[in-house]
Amino acid sequence: MCGVRKKRFLLLYGTQKGQSKDIAEEIAQQADHHGFVADIFSLQDLEQFSLEDERDPVIIVISTTGTGEPPEPAAKFVRRIQNKELPSDYLAHLRYGLLGACLRINVRLTSILAAL
Ligand SMILES: Cc1cc2nc3c(=O)[nH]c(=O)nc-3n(C[C@H](O)[C@H](O)[C@H](O)COP(=O)(O)O)c2cc1C
Repeated sequence: MCGVRKKRFLLLYGTQKGQSKDIAEEIAQQADHHGFVADIFSLQDLEQFSLEDERDPVIIVISTTGTGEPPEPAAKFVRRIQNKELPSDYLAHLRYGLLGACLRINVRLTSILAAL
């Protein structure tokens, strides 16, 4: 892909035990071979990304824990987007995909990238 400008996307993960991070890192690595470049961040690093300003596609990989709750590092992010005072079209501009990493997940990377 020499000389071809890679298509950027934002890749976020929320993990308790590391599986979602591993999956996100695999997506980022393989995306690179398919002409994409991922900016990858943990959902706990809220200052590193801004969904309000994001214009490129977003992929979120997140697990569930407890009784269906988000992993602890993603709790602040989830509280923030669930704030009932936010306008109903908040984040309506986003093109995003959400991957739930529960017991086992097979990442069909080509399907994900085709959707970007
Ligand atoms: C204490 C605990 C609670 C869990 N609760 C749920 C759950 O409510 N729903 C679910 O689908 N998976 C649940 N799981 C499975 C996790 O989502 C799964 O292990 C996942 O791969 C963890 O990903 P992570 O390493 O990115 O946190 C739970 C796992 C643990 C250890």
